[in-house]
Amino acid sequence: MIYMDNAATSMKKPKEVIDAVVSAMQNFGNAGRGVTEASLDAARVIYDTREKLADFFHAEDPTRIAFTMNSTESLNIAIKGLFGAGDHVITTVLEHNSVLRPLYECQEEGVELSILGCDERGTISYEEMEALIRENTKAIVCTHGSNVTGNLLDLNRIGKLAKKHGILFLVDASQTAGVFPIDVQKMNIDVLCFTGHKSLLGPQGTGGMYVREGICIRPLLSGGSGIDSFNKHHPIQMPGSLEAGTLNGHGIAGLGAAISYIEQIGIEKIQEKELGFMRKFYNEISKIPEVKVYGDFATTIRCPIVSFNIGNLDSAKISDELSVRYEIATRAGAHCAPLLHNALGTQRQGAVRFSFSHYNTEEEVNAAICAIKEIVEEYTL
Ligand code: ALA
Repeated sequence: MIYMDNAATSMKKPKEVIDAVVSAMQNFGNAGRGVTEASLDAARVIYDTREKLADFFHAEDPTRIAFTMNSTESLNIAIKGLFGAGDHVITTVLEHNSVLRPLYECQEEGVELSILGCDERGTISYEEMEALIRENTKAIVCTHGSNVTGNLLDLNRIGKLAKKHGILFLVDASQTAGVFPIDVQKMNIDVLCFTGHKSLLGPQGTGGMYVREGICIRPLLSGGSGIDSFNKHHPIQMPGSLEAGTLNGHGIAGLGAAISYIEQIGIEKIQEKELGFMRKFYNEISKIPEVKVYGDFATTIRCPIVSFNIGNLDSAKISDELSVRYEIATRAGAHCAPLLHNALGTQRQGAVRFSFSHYNTEEEVNAAICAIKEIVEEYTL
């Protein structure tokens, strides 16, 4: 199979990740719940991964990183735990439902919501974003990279804006963590939500969030913490405040190995390779008159994603052809980003999305281009 659905999840994982998960499954007790070697082994590896993530995202200290099962959980914790009736929050039409749905739920509880639109290439205006800020604005919540178009948002710019107006800045890094360097301090990010199973190359069911020192998030869950058991309330100190119950130690061991792998290869090298594949694929298919590509390709730095349609063919049909006839895995449909598809006019057709990994090869990209050319010829005769 030629796997080009890495924006959904990276399928090929480094051997080091698989080995770390297997070893953890053979050796781990419950971290923080005992002093046996098995329990301490788990605790050490989990702490080590926390440290690696703190370094990776330039957090001030490892205790500011909490583990969750994915970006969706992190975003729910942050959004529902920070906003209340009377607060105003700004977001964008680029967002995934993991941002939008928790925000809509907050809206039902009295949070005021402004959703910034985009132009036909899916780009936003930072001036318009600033103009939405009001007296009761509590935060800007936005994605770093669109999972549909691959467009990046300028986190440095938004971070400066948030700082200037004294509001919180929450970032969904689902599509970018592992391909683009993220520095939470330089970028003035207050809460960074990430998943482990996409470009971070870790196991599914891993993820986490960075929470800036001084920000206190009401937890979604309370329960076992391994400490202070006679207290009726869940501990309020990070990271335990956001980590009720036994952690996914096996997955976290894999995530730790994945971070080491990325650092060893070099994030710049990974980025260069993925963007090279994306650019080559885009350059070839965008020449085909029947193909309409979505997004801003004038910028060189963007996510390794190309979404497009062929004439008015249903995107699911093309994705299905690619899978059945060419064994190429892609994702069609709405990609859980309804407002962006509305803005692009693709709410009925969806779009076919190719998303690349550094594990792909030139031959695979060539095969994908040939497959698209054949499908276009066949269906548009
Ligand atoms: N959010 C993931 C995607 O875009 C699953 O495919």
